[in-house]
Amino acid sequence: MIVTTKELFAQAYKNYAIGAYNINNAEQTMGLFKGNMDSKAPFIIQISKGARKYTDKLMLEGMIRAADEIFPDAVFAVHLDHGDEQTCYDCIDSGFYSSVMIDASSLPFEENIATTKRVVEAAHAKGLVVEAELGQLGGVEEDVKVDEDKAHLTDPAQAAEFIERSGCDSLACAIGTSHGAFKFSGSQGLHFEVVEAIQKLVPGFPLVLHGSSSVPQEEVERINAAGGSLKGAKGVDATQYLPAAKLGVCKINIDTDGRLVWTRVHREYMKEHPEVFDFRPMGKVFIEEYAKFIASRNELLGSAGHLDEVREALKK
Ligand code: G3H
Ligand code: 13P
Ligand code: ZN
Repeated sequence: MIVTTKELFAQAYKNYAIGAYNINNAEQTMGLFKGNMDSKAPFIIQISKGARKYTDKLMLEGMIRAADEIFPDAVFAVHLDHGDEQTCYDCIDSGFYSSVMIDASSLPFEENIATTKRVVEAAHAKGLVVEAELGQLGGVEEDVKVDEDKAHLTDPAQAAEFIERSGCDSLACAIGTSHGAFKFSGSQGLHFEVVEAIQKLVPGFPLVLHGSSSVPQEEVERINAAGGSLKGAKGVDATQYLPAAKLGVCKINIDTDGRLVWTRVHREYMKEHPEVFDFRPMGKVFIEEYAKFIASRNELLGSAGHLDEVREALKK
């Protein structure tokens, strides 16, 4: 059952966070649904511009529709990740997505508000909801690289004004995380005081954390032992997910960790089975491992076990 992120946030607010996971292919889609069903969690499917280009946006749509039939108990939102204005309109018009992110965070404050407002008007007219972003995360996302010195935390007073004037339904704020596998050169501290200050000014408003992969060190070591080279990779402390949720973070974005699972499985499989050229046995291992990974994240996010109650509350 496809629902909006707003509906999911209303269920989760200050209790747990909903996992937002990116998909690009059939194996990820199967593993994602399986992991969420195994852990009985509602979830958010994220589709990036890069994912829409990788095969074809219609291929992703077809896979999700099929997964919805294969797993009829699933409750999830279909969300455009880091959209530009045109891609947002394309998703809004598609009739398939339930939520879009307009990422105009690199624009000056007034332009970010104006762009977000246009997307909000178009989305709300068709029953979709909008995530916006204010502040700048470090790291790499598709074609944009933000150096650590250019990244800056969200200003709470600006966030309150932005929410009020743009009409967005949720806001991604920068509190020290960054995209990719190399998030911190020093300590992994997050600025929860920013979340608290925004919540004080706009109580009840759902916040979003991007760049939240934990980059498990065991995963990195296994990848490196199987021929990879990911020295110095470091992520968010995953025990921080739930405390963030209790403060008003309703959506936690995890993509890089899934890529690490894929890389570990395929590197190890090919190293151990040099004679194999059928990709299905390793694809099968990946589906199982990714499902296990998703279930483990949902436990940490606190969303595990909430599926039945959320489905009952959102029954259409
Ligand atoms: O924040 C970016 C997500 O990890 C998606 O990455 O644009 O390479 O698909 P991508
Ligand atoms: P990670 O790179 O930490 O997985 O972040 C993903 C993300 O924010 C997608 O929008
Ligand atoms: Zn992101």
